[in-house]
Amino acid sequence: MLFKQLFENESSTYTYLISCQEKQQAILIDPVLETLDRDLSIIRKLNLKLTHAVDTHIHADHVTSASALREILGCKVAGPANDNLTCRDINFENSDVLRIGNSIEMEAIHTPGHTDTHFSYVINFEKEKFLFSGDALLINACGRTDFQSGSSEILYNTIQDIFYKMPDYTKVFPAHDYNNNNFSTIKYQKKNNQLISSNVDLKKFIVNMENLKLDKPKKIDIAVPRNMDCGVINQG
Ligand SMILES: [Fe+2]
Repeated sequence: MLFKQLFENESSTYTYLISCQEKQQAILIDPVLETLDRDLSIIRKLNLKLTHAVDTHIHADHVTSASALREILGCKVAGPANDNLTCRDINFENSDVLRIGNSIEMEAIHTPGHTDTHFSYVINFEKEKFLFSGDALLINACGRTDFQSGSSEILYNTIQDIFYKMPDYTKVFPAHDYNNNNFSTIKYQKKNNQLISSNVDLKKFIVNMENLKLDKPKKIDIAVPRNMDCGVINQG
């Protein structure tokens, strides 16, 4: 398995390139329009065939490059079925599996709370477990729950009952990091996550989330409608 973590500065978004070494078939998770050229050149340089552009959810802080990648490379666009986006080719239900080449299987799991349709993706490869947690679980934090159908109560259950029940060694790769962290582990987050360690009860978590008092994302009014069209380029 070839694995690359890529970063977009403006929205602090991580995009993940995952490829099967035998077939040279690859996917991108949460690709960003601003870094389309960079991603295309990496894919071409590595001689990969991009089969899927996958989103974890309808992002509010950046526009997805899924449509552009489909137009340029002929890949399929995938994401949660409950987003009800007609622009997608593949709509994941909970526990659906996407094959990457012939050596990798990625499971799609419904992990609501940041948005009600948010999905995360899990890959077990050799002895490692990779969790692409989107905006549900961040490193020492979690996604906000104050807009886009977010719910602190639901996110609490997702993190405690789904993520924190994964094995301690699970590597957590989020969609964003604002502090130069690359990844974490479930073990570390259970113990050290400042908003939701495994000891934090629901009441305390709700207070923690209310105290965040975050600004509205700068691009939300542009990003959400465009992402509901899979980031189609000839718009707006
Ligand atoms: Fe988000």
